[in-house]
Amino acid sequence: MKNFEFYNPVKIYFGKDQVSKLSTELLPYKKIMLVYGKGSIKANGVYQKIMTALEGKDVIEFSGVEPNPAYETLMQAVNLAKKENVDFLLAAGGGSVIDGTKFIAAAIKYEKEDPWDMLSKYEKVTDAVKLGAVLTLPATGSEMNSGAVITRKSCNEKLAFGSPLLFPVFSVLDPETMYSLPDIQIANGIVDAFVHITEQYITYPDRAAVQDAWAASLLKVLINEGPKVLKNRSDYDANANLMWAATMALNGLLGAGVPTDWSTHMIGHEITALYGVDHAQTLAVVLPGIMTVMKAEKADKLIHYAENVWGISGAGKDEVINAVIAKTEEFFVSLGIKVKLSDYNIPEDSIDLICKKLAGKKYVKLGENKNITPEIVKQVLTLRK
Ligand code: NZQ
Ligand code: ZN
Repeated sequence: MKNFEFYNPVKIYFGKDQVSKLSTELLPYKKIMLVYGKGSIKANGVYQKIMTALEGKDVIEFSGVEPNPAYETLMQAVNLAKKENVDFLLAAGGGSVIDGTKFIAAAIKYEKEDPWDMLSKYEKVTDAVKLGAVLTLPATGSEMNSGAVITRKSCNEKLAFGSPLLFPVFSVLDPETMYSLPDIQIANGIVDAFVHITEQYITYPDRAAVQDAWAASLLKVLINEGPKVLKNRSDYDANANLMWAATMALNGLLGAGVPTDWSTHMIGHEITALYGVDHAQTLAVVLPGIMTVMKAEKADKLIHYAENVWGISGAGKDEVINAVIAKTEEFFVSLGIKVKLSDYNIPEDSIDLICKKLAGKKYVKLGENKNITPEIVKQVLTLRK
């Protein structure tokens, strides 16, 4: 196991009606900006519950944050928040709203030229307005981590950034908010969390027994509970298990002290930036390709995954590995997620374009061994046509 530092200050309020805790959490703040998306929180009653908890507080609203939140939209929120002297940002929604709010929080305090430089030029976040979240879509883990992914539409770029200053102060996780999600968003959430786990798990063995056991167990939770949610959308405990598993999948615990391989995400972000495919769907396309092309170096962990998650074992290593890759793809398909580029009408010449874009950003040494080059990405995507 490698040396690591682990720090996660996010206070979690989990369960039914926990949104009422906002009233005490927000006591120290004078002017709150509620940030949300295109209106799902109004349709499902979350907005009303938040407003009840915030009664008597000075609240302004910024709505319209889109999936894959856009810099162009978020800068409007930054201007409004500065004008209104906002001292707390409350995000209500999925990963896009929470990520967007993290960007707003940092951009308000950014004193150099363009806050986009925090993403494109790795300019450090030196200050940020405090933020909290009411999560309504379990998937990204943004509610309990310090990262965010923002899209700049004018240049088709989707980039990540992060800072310990961007951990939410608290996040409210009420599984009942999931009841109004369309099935496809539940499926997306299961796949996104699944891939967050595999990227911190299916690399090379490092005798990290705790992390390996956690990863395998969380994957089993997703495999068992995810389909229960899709079958019975109001099964509270299944929703609760899915929500908590997705949060645990990317709050820093699994990846502490172990090698990680974020190549599936990096390639996926390019596909979303260019073609607008949902984040999780890009991952379902790419992951089986990464597992296949990189199977020699990932062999030991693929076998650990086969045996401990799916109960697949046998004498032939190669057979076990091929079977577990097929099983992974089958699981995504069983959730209603398509797994080939052509399923999303992505043209064949996109493969070269994606590789070129990765190379342009110097993402040329991805993976746990830094050997997933654009040429390897081409092989991966060619398999996924
Ligand atoms: O806009 P609203 O009206 O809120 O509708 C949203 C949106 O259309 C809807 N929705 C959310 N909660 C709902 C609901 N509809 C009905 N009932 C509810 N309870 O769902 C749609 C998708 O929402 P979005 O927030 O875009 O989805 P998700 O949570 O999957 O977030 C995806 C974004 O997060 C980034 C992705 O790249 C993408 O931009 N990620 C962030 C990460 C992080 N911060 O750590 C890591 C991830 O790997 C990921 O990259
Ligand atoms: Zn993700």
